[in-house]
Amino acid sequence: MITNTEIEKRGNQHPNHIVDFKQENRKLLFTTQNGVILEVSILRDSVVRFRYATEHVFEPDFSYAISDDVNTGFNQLEVQDEIPEYVVTTNKIKIYINKSNLKVQITDLEDNVLNEDELGFHWEENYDFGGNVVKMSKICHSGESYYGMGDKASHTNLKGKRLNNWVTDSYAYGKDQEPLYKAIPFYVGLKESVAYGIFFDNSFSTYFDFANEKRNVTSFWADGGEMNYYFFYGPKMSQVVEAYTDLTGVPELPPLWALGFHQSKWSYYPERNVKKIAATFRKLNIPCDAIYLDIDYMEGFRCFTWNNRYFPNPKKMVQELEKDGFKVVTMIDPGIKIDRDYWVYQQAMDNGFFCRRADGPHFKGKVWPGECKFPDFTNPEVREWWAGLYKEMIAEIGVRGVWNDMNEPAIMEVPSKTANLDVRHDYDGHPCSHRKAHNVYGMQMVRATYEGIKKYTFPRRPFVLTRAAYSGTQRYCATWTGDNVATWEHLWIANVQMQRMCMSGYSFVGSDIGGFAEQPNGELFARWVQLAIFHPFCRVHSSGDHGDQEPWSFGEEITNIVRKYIELRYQLLPYLYTMFYKYINNGMPMLQSLVFYDQEDTQTHFRTDEFLFGEHMLVCPVQEPNAQGRRMYFPRGNWYSYWTDEVIEGGVERWVPAEIYKIPLYVKEGAMIPKYPVQQYVGEKEIKELRIDVYYKEGIENSSVYEDQQDGYDYKKGRFSLRKFRLRGKENELIIQQFKDGNFTTSYNTFKLNFHGLPFTIGTVEVDNEEVDFSEIKLNGNNSIEVTKDFTELHLIGK
Ligand code: NOJ
Repeated sequence: MITNTEIEKRGNQHPNHIVDFKQENRKLLFTTQNGVILEVSILRDSVVRFRYATEHVFEPDFSYAISDDVNTGFNQLEVQDEIPEYVVTTNKIKIYINKSNLKVQITDLEDNVLNEDELGFHWEENYDFGGNVVKMSKICHSGESYYGMGDKASHTNLKGKRLNNWVTDSYAYGKDQEPLYKAIPFYVGLKESVAYGIFFDNSFSTYFDFANEKRNVTSFWADGGEMNYYFFYGPKMSQVVEAYTDLTGVPELPPLWALGFHQSKWSYYPERNVKKIAATFRKLNIPCDAIYLDIDYMEGFRCFTWNNRYFPNPKKMVQELEKDGFKVVTMIDPGIKIDRDYWVYQQAMDNGFFCRRADGPHFKGKVWPGECKFPDFTNPEVREWWAGLYKEMIAEIGVRGVWNDMNEPAIMEVPSKTANLDVRHDYDGHPCSHRKAHNVYGMQMVRATYEGIKKYTFPRRPFVLTRAAYSGTQRYCATWTGDNVATWEHLWIANVQMQRMCMSGYSFVGSDIGGFAEQPNGELFARWVQLAIFHPFCRVHSSGDHGDQEPWSFGEEITNIVRKYIELRYQLLPYLYTMFYKYINNGMPMLQSLVFYDQEDTQTHFRTDEFLFGEHMLVCPVQEPNAQGRRMYFPRGNWYSYWTDEVIEGGVERWVPAEIYKIPLYVKEGAMIPKYPVQQYVGEKEIKELRIDVYYKEGIENSSVYEDQQDGYDYKKGRFSLRKFRLRGKENELIIQQFKDGNFTTSYNTFKLNFHGLPFTIGTVEVDNEEVDFSEIKLNGNNSIEVTKDFTELHLIGK
């Protein structure tokens, strides 16, 4: 990678003085004497886009990242022409634009600096390819920290790191290895505990330097395209992440089964083996909802075909598995085998759907089937064709989900591991080379897949998984972190990657549990499961060439531990589903790093291990062998041990016990955690009662439970149930109010409330203002009651 200093030495150019200013509604255009135009667009009072053109010309405005449903609208926009700068004021921030050099400084309304240019925008003519290398440098203030950036396998706080976004097949990657599978050029900055965010929407190879080369400079640049970034003001991290998530979009709700446990391996075949694995789950009573078919189900690795020897009747197999609660997920890769007798190849050839090199021939690369050609998914016609290819697999055979792999695209036996840079792409009518399209190629493939699965699986909801991603890919599918390794270090990496992805707008994410490459021992596998049941996407996957990696592969003790944790995941499904609901409705990441939870506590700025699972549960995985416990930091608030109900007051680091069967798990006081009974798969049982674990608090705390039909789209027509609970605890009383929204009738009418930490002995219980007899509510000591109606207020009074 070239260094900043080297870049500086080569012909950098900078904007000079402003000679013209124009306002077109929410767009402000500042032109310099040497032909730079800065376009400042106000999207919201706290969200502003900065775009720079050189030679007076902007490129056509097009981005794959931005959602169609962005919320825009602001309350105030004023521009003052002052000396030495223009001052743009919204309801939340001020932007100072220096008249002599176009440098930008952004402050809050009290003139506290949030972010300021060092050199600001500058550029260099790219003599090899044409266009500019576009660059931005900002001042990094002392104590400033940086978070986000997608799947980076580095410390949560990125200060001191230099990163590159170029989606790359990174088999058995290591800590701090760059680049990885995803390009998410978005970071959250934290300066004096005030948060802001920057999203550099540029699909070329992008680079970020967080005070790595120069202690006081943070910079980002790209090999081509435009300097085009969005600035988000907090002051809370949650506001920054919410705004970025709103800009780049959210998925629809997944089918609930997709939040269950998934089992995968490279590869389960033939059919007999697939069924044996499924049967063993049921025999051992280990819940599981999905089983995966990796590439070997295909005929010679030809996508959209089945190997008839291994799978003589896929439809029958899928149906049989389905009866037993298993959904089948199949893999589809982008490389299409060059084979004149293969219908997918023929169709793509006949229609000119394959990518071409600069001088005309098709681009060819080796993947599993040998020499392949690659559809240009950046062409909308190609995407439509690709979506249609799924018809048989989904609508006729009954496959319920698809897994797009190798979509960087990964190419074997070439040093670049990917397509040649001169390969041409349509880029939705903005023809370009692979330099520009590379980072979005996988995204556009999975977008097409999603459209197909959605169409053919209707009226059910689709489930799609991708390996490669650019910002915005979260709209279409879940993702996993690629080919990790069965080591303790990778357990640490998985933990930070999930937190980081959630902070980067992409919550539906998981790792290959136990590690893809190499073989975990039982202890590592158990510890990984203990962590991963708290990850939004929960799947065991392995390369399969080192031994088995099923929950029962490591002896009885480990099987029992693993079963217990997968059961816990199934119990927590309503809590998890509610987290998903909040993610897509409020942009609330499903996992929160401690710094996200309490940015004002500087202790949290460098924590990596602990995280919040949803709003109310604190998790801290054990990441080393032979541990009997570990030290962990408790953030603000009071925390009940999930295992013992011991209450720990936050703001301290403590040693906590964590024998092999226990992960440190805490619940925030005041929380009401909804639970379903253990099921072997989603929908196995009708839910007859909602169990709620109520953690007493002196004071007020809100909780909620979102439910619907668990699949289908009726929820969009109002057929959902959102129960909002407000708990208010006093010395001798506990009041729980329930507010309901939506018109879905849940299958249960009974609430089993289990109390934790009640400081008084229950004397009287009132349901909706009427005192009830203890026999009616089955009062059990001080621990639980059953309320058999949809109460609006529950009142416990001490003796
Ligand atoms: C690479 C993927 O990352 C891995 O999960 C998969 O098993 C192999 N390709 C084989 O398809």
